[in-house]
Amino acid sequence: MRAMAFPTTRPRRLRATPALRALVRETELSPRDFVLPLFIRPGKGEKRPISSMPGHFQYSVDEAVKAAGEAAALGVPALILFGIPDKKDAKASGAYAAGGIVQKAARAIKDKHPELLLIADLCFCEYTDHGHCGIVKDGRVLNDPTLALAAKTAVSQAKAGFDVIAPSGMMDGQVGVMRRALDAAGFSDTPILAYAAKYASGFYGPFREAAESPPSFGDRSGYQMDPANFREALREVALDVEEGADMVMVKPALPYLDVVKAVKDRFGLPTSAYQVSGEFAMIKAAAKNGWIDEKRVALETLVSIKRAGADFILTYYALEAARWLAS
Ligand code: PBG
Repeated sequence: MRAMAFPTTRPRRLRATPALRALVRETELSPRDFVLPLFIRPGKGEKRPISSMPGHFQYSVDEAVKAAGEAAALGVPALILFGIPDKKDAKASGAYAAGGIVQKAARAIKDKHPELLLIADLCFCEYTDHGHCGIVKDGRVLNDPTLALAAKTAVSQAKAGFDVIAPSGMMDGQVGVMRRALDAAGFSDTPILAYAAKYASGFYGPFREAAESPPSFGDRSGYQMDPANFREALREVALDVEEGADMVMVKPALPYLDVVKAVKDRFGLPTSAYQVSGEFAMIKAAAKNGWIDEKRVALETLVSIKRAGADFILTYYALEAARWLAS
């Protein structure tokens, strides 16, 4: 009999007590792993519930500052901001206006909570009247004309105080043009977190209610990735790294853990995953029906995402998970 086999080896020995399990645990979650997404709308004293995302709201700037304070108090180090502008147009003007909604929010949050890291989602779907992530002509989303807007928006966001710029539009070449624009404007130290492998996913459903950004025609399959593709994700990440991405993201998270793992192993860059609105909403809905234990399932998904290789996780569970981990 081989010495390493049963009955000499009994993996259950190390599972006998909580202390033993804690000692040999390979992956540990911490509030420091989380980035909290916030939706910012115009107005004052506004906190409008998002029905498909219980516990989440569209905040006016003043209310967003309070939510940011809650994150800081719980040890969640970073926020990613999405804007709902008061006016949408064909050129997504609200995305790069100096007085744009997320620019205002960034200034107000930085003023009150300078220790928080502010990440700017850079995409146009919330700012265009047609809801697509770029300039549209004859029913098509044009790549290169959109890049000029992306460059402008990155600089406007950096000027407003964002610490990290996160392009999520899936336009080819967007990371490179943003890097050059940031460098030229004196922001060579501002990192880019590329939504490098972003899939055309049904899991974004609740977000489109939250950000009021559903496309008015067609879908995003012409620019976001086909869920069936893995090798293409590695090519997408390689291109973004070549163009100057400092960190990369895979999105959604749980259905794409193979991609998270491969990206981390292959590139070794700080790697993140976005547990998107639909992933959050599914857990909430099942828990509300009493079908699953919310805390247990939510923490299990988060630890799985980290175990697969994510260094940090964008998640609507950031505050709740931080509270659970502290208790
Ligand atoms: C912007 C963007 C989307 C999400 C993040 N940035 C929506 C989309 O691509 O349709 C989705 C996030 C989520 O579902 O939580 N393009």
